[in-house]
Amino acid sequence: MIETERLLLRPFLEKDAADVLEYLRKPAVNCFASMKLDSLEEAKEEMKKRARETEYYFAIVLKETGKVIGEIDAYPERGEPHDTSSPFDTFSPCWMLNEVYQGKGYAYEAAHAFFDYLFRKKGARRIYAYTEDYNLPSQHLCEKLGMRREGLFMEFVSFVNNPDGSPRYENTVQYAILKKEWL
Ligand SMILES: CC(C)(COP(=O)(O)OP(=O)(O)OC[C@H]1O[C@@H](n2cnc3c(N)ncnc32)[C@H](O)[C@@H]1OP(=O)(O)O)[C@@H](O)C(=O)NCCC(=O)NCCS
Repeated sequence: MIETERLLLRPFLEKDAADVLEYLRKPAVNCFASMKLDSLEEAKEEMKKRARETEYYFAIVLKETGKVIGEIDAYPERGEPHDTSSPFDTFSPCWMLNEVYQGKGYAYEAAHAFFDYLFRKKGARRIYAYTEDYNLPSQHLCEKLGMRREGLFMEFVSFVNNPDGSPRYENTVQYAILKKEWL
């Protein structure tokens, strides 16, 4: 569990299903399209799976009310993906808030505490983030966290199809920060 002034970051519980359904009934961006939930039953099943994740996948909970207002996660990856001896010291976060709770500084508060946890307690050497070129709030968050804009990958990845069934490719911006920069 990670605590900040207004938030708790904790593993998901089955009782979080309704709160999560609120923001995953219609995922805000294409990169989360596959996470879409259609019913409370489906959300409960999803919470059962998430409840097993205790180190790297957290619900963002408003301390004042206990409501789950979003989520943040990042898993250890090899720093050099093609070298099987390379250490798992690299992380790429996903963050998402219920839109009712955006614009209140909660994403920054949660991400700042999560980055600190990854760098200080989970062996992170480098954290990088991918975000669509049109996702300005996410880019703004990366910049507030002190991340460097490292590049723009044109037609990098496809999460959804065009009406004719062909893949709709996204242009992706990469941001990153090193532990030595964070500290
Ligand atoms: C990306 C996302 C998490 C950013 O959330 P957010 O609420 O806009 O981000 P922040 O926490 O930085 O808060 C933004 C604003 O809240 C304002 N705010 C209001 N009250 C505040 C307070 N008490 N303390 C701090 N900031 C406050 C700030 O002014 C800040 O704007 P600024 O940085 O221009 O000053 C959110 O847009 C989201 O969930 N998007 C959909 C999912 C998504 O796109 N995920 C990323 C995929 S790559």
